[in-house]
Amino acid sequence: MRTLSRLSIHFMLTMSALAVTISTPAFADDSLYRQFGGKKGIEHVIDDFYDRMLDDPRTKSFFDGASIPHIEKMLNQQFCALMGGPCVYTGRSMKRTHEGLGIDGKAFAAGIDDLKQAMQKNHIPVDAQNKLLAKLMPMAHDIQDRR
Ligand code: HEM
Repeated sequence: MRTLSRLSIHFMLTMSALAVTISTPAFADDSLYRQFGGKKGIEHVIDDFYDRMLDDPRTKSFFDGASIPHIEKMLNQQFCALMGGPCVYTGRSMKRTHEGLGIDGKAFAAGIDDLKQAMQKNHIPVDAQNKLLAKLMPMAHDIQDRR
């Protein structure tokens, strides 16, 4: 009898531990997302980033005929997801999106320059700026045309 009740207590403890494990969500690290000021903060940076790219003689011609509202929507999702925010990127891969556009190293660097200025203007802390840039730099390989 005693063994039986010990067994049932053990069983109950195991089940409740299991329930806690299953019901505890794995929290994503959203500190970068918060440093950017969440969705609104990211939106301000991207608005400014695109104003600059569309005005910049080094980048503007690449966007002839492109749908800017669509690109901005995709970029907002992408940045938010990259920063650990509550978003899912639904756009195309970076390779698929940019292939054939002829973006070379100089145009890519100009885009990054415009993004840096947009972050600076929106008072994003420098360590947060660098964290985003570190996530974007590995994409250069897929965005630039290597021909
Ligand atoms: C790290 C840097 C960059 C990121 C993360 C990025 C991201 C994106 C995203 C998310 C889209 C929309 C994807 C979709 O429609 O599904 C896009 C489109 C586009 N991007 Fe970029 N981009 C970057 C750099 C650049 C640069 C430097 C240029 C030009 C100088 C550029 C030119 C374009 C153009 C023209 C489109 C529209 C393509 C189309 O509609 O067919 N991008 N980009």
